[in-house]
Amino acid sequence: MNTEEITKLETSAEEEVIELEVDLGQPCPYYLGDNIVNYFPEYLRRFPHDKVVVVSSRIPNELFGDALFQALDSQGASVIRLVIDDRESSKNWRTLSSLCEALIEAGVTRDSILVALGGGVVGNVVGLAAGLVFRGIRYVEVPTTLMAQTDSVLSRKQAINGSTGKNQFGLYHTPLFIWSDVAYSRREPVRQTRSAVVEGIKNGLVNSPEWLDELIGILQAGIDNVYQNFEQFTLRLVQSKLSILERDPNEKKEAIILEYGHTFGHAIEWLSRGSIYHGEAVSIGMCTAAHLSLEMGLMEKDVLELHYYVLQELLGAPVRVPEELTPAQICNAMLSDNKRTSTGLSCLLLEKPGRLYRPNGSYLTKVSPEQVRQALQAAGSDRCDS
Ligand SMILES: NC(=O)c1ccc[n+]([C@@H]2O[C@H](COP(=O)([O-])OP(=O)(O)OC[C@H]3O[C@@H](n4cnc5c(N)ncnc54)[C@H](O)[C@@H]3O)[C@@H](O)[C@H]2O)c1
Repeated sequence: MNTEEITKLETSAEEEVIELEVDLGQPCPYYLGDNIVNYFPEYLRRFPHDKVVVVSSRIPNELFGDALFQALDSQGASVIRLVIDDRESSKNWRTLSSLCEALIEAGVTRDSILVALGGGVVGNVVGLAAGLVFRGIRYVEVPTTLMAQTDSVLSRKQAINGSTGKNQFGLYHTPLFIWSDVAYSRREPVRQTRSAVVEGIKNGLVNSPEWLDELIGILQAGIDNVYQNFEQFTLRLVQSKLSILERDPNEKKEAIILEYGHTFGHAIEWLSRGSIYHGEAVSIGMCTAAHLSLEMGLMEKDVLELHYYVLQELLGAPVRVPEELTPAQICNAMLSDNKRTSTGLSCLLLEKPGRLYRPNGSYLTKVSPEQVRQALQAAGSDRCDS
């Protein structure tokens, strides 16, 4: 037993694990800590079960699967381990149906609990499988990326992609609890950390100028600064999303503001087949939405410039629509977006930090293909010289 493990045994879960009360349609406690895997079985035991199925993907399974398995096994749990493909291009029916069949073959019952150990793709596929098997069994989120810890798990929405677009098939299913260990996310490549921070910037742009200023202050000292107190930084990102979600835990109305930049972003992420990460695509999507807001006379130019300053200069995230994607391709992919209604293309548009355009009580504004094309062209050219 190494010194770190001895220290852990001498401290208690109450000292090491922060608990946030989260409402995702149902109460869903969010536990946060640094190197807290050994406490996990104690929290899981609060929910009687016959067996635990840990579903992971290659990298998180190799990095963290054994320690989680040993923690559960040493407490006498009956544990089965499954591994799925977590590429964005594999977030589809094939992966979902193979997982559902493997769960039945592994002997899951209505008393079993699934544990999703991985990034947002694993969380979405496992959450959806948990919602489908026997019309719904229990599951727990153990997110291993900063994106999953601070964004994707804070949602009841579980979805896979279809053959023409992102997140076309899904359902709402709330986990029993979320177990967020920054010892996992600290090991991610910095490109993935940057991608996650984009969603935090979005939360500031749509909801809280104060949080945006705080984040700007952190990023002005460089991306390395976020690792200085990574647990605290993760907590602040989580809170930035919760302050929106608490007004609409069921994600049916107000929470749509979380989708700023996502109609463009999802189309770009989808067309790139995963080579552009989710947060990177949202960064490009927000800049495009800002150009559109400017063109429509809703936003001043300094707000557009703020997008480029925070996302490009401070964070170093991509902001330009990739040259290889034509406006026609992106428009087509946008037409498959899950926010599409019978009235055609709709977007969220921003007036200034903390205020989205909301003309008739709805945040979704109908836009024409020509307006979209112009905004995409502007966002594909240099900086904000539209
Ligand atoms: N409401 C929602 O449900 C919601 C919200 C935001 C994002 N999402 C979805 O989440 C997905 C993106 O999630 P993501 O950014 O976590 O990406 P991801 O799940 O694709 O993971 C990215 C990569 O990181 C690897 N990885 C996981 N943990 C790691 C670690 N600790 N160290 C090193 N590598 C690690 C994975 O194996 C994968 O290769 C997208 O499909 C997006 O649509 C869903």
